[in-house]
Amino acid sequence: HTRPVIFSGMQPSSDSLHLGNYIGALSQWTQMQSSFDAFFCVVNLHAITVPQDPAELAERTRRTAAQYIAAGIDPAQSTLFVQSHVPAHTELAWVLNTLAGFGEASRMTQFKDKSQRQGADAASVGLFTYPMLMAADILLYQADSVPVGEDQRQHVELTRDLALRFNHRFGETFTVPEAQIQKGTAKIYDLQDPASKMSKSAESEAGLVKVLDAPSVTRKKIMRAVTDADAEIRFDRDAKPGVSNLLTIYSVLTGRMVESIESEYDGRGYGDLKKGLAEVVEETFAPVRERTNELLDDRAELDRLLAAAADRANDVAGRTLARVYDAMGL
Ligand code: ADP
Ligand code: NA
Repeated sequence: HTRPVIFSGMQPSSDSLHLGNYIGALSQWTQMQSSFDAFFCVVNLHAITVPQDPAELAERTRRTAAQYIAAGIDPAQSTLFVQSHVPAHTELAWVLNTLAGFGEASRMTQFKDKSQRQGADAASVGLFTYPMLMAADILLYQADSVPVGEDQRQHVELTRDLALRFNHRFGETFTVPEAQIQKGTAKIYDLQDPASKMSKSAESEAGLVKVLDAPSVTRKKIMRAVTDADAEIRFDRDAKPGVSNLLTIYSVLTGRMVESIESEYDGRGYGDLKKGLAEVVEETFAPVRERTNELLDDRAELDRLLAAAADRANDVAGRTLARVYDAMGL
């Protein structure tokens, strides 16, 4: 390869991506795609580790892919594909399941969190083996780095351990990937609960800004965002988490320094800041929403793009899997 390889993905577990996904993942990916040989995956096999409605899953998979493209992932430049279109993911995951220790897998904090939330008996074995599928996703493309949030660090560590173990036992086969933890990337918080990160798993959607929502819905959510009583527009993450979150979003979406926004709104009320922010968000999301809807109106074209990407992904992944099987005597 001439360019380093990156792999990243998101689950199709919602009708619309949210502002956190957009700022923390999607907009980062679009900036990276010209410097890397990038594989961006809609990880639908990960989504079924918790119960899914089949029709809804199919729809959400298309919508997620459409939003990637609409936000700027160029299917001619990056390989944007759906995980289940590439059988090597599940095949390599099985191999990695046989290499991973039960104790090692049991230490994954995401499994502990998610299984606790569902109740130990309700949690699937798939939820337990999820990290080995994620390792397969990454290793099949010989990824050099994996842009992920802090919460995925442990899974990437496991991926590295499995790659090193395989290479040691069966001969050099995998690139050992680095986690590229998005340090400079702003974390976006829930508008109603600025102590918690904005997440599709939030109990209420009142503080969740969605890319595909109607502008009036988003505007209402922003106007109702939690602030505080002292009416001062100043960034202070600890003392003024609500206002600081609004300023962060404003700053990231406009590329302006927080200080410059603070001085623009100096002496004005929270209502003005919120109105301004609602406009900024709408300017950002309007083109993404329009393009997503165009893509969803032409299903055949979207499916064709995804099929072409799956061909490329199958080609690369299939070559890695063949080396793995060969090395193991399979
Ligand atoms: P959610 O928390 O809504 O389930 P995911 O865990 O599926 O989101 O995250 C998908 C991607 O979006 C990851 O790369 C993650 O780091 C990023 N992301 C999610 N929520 C936020 C947030 N509130 N702020 C910044 N980035 C986020
Ligand atoms: Na999540």
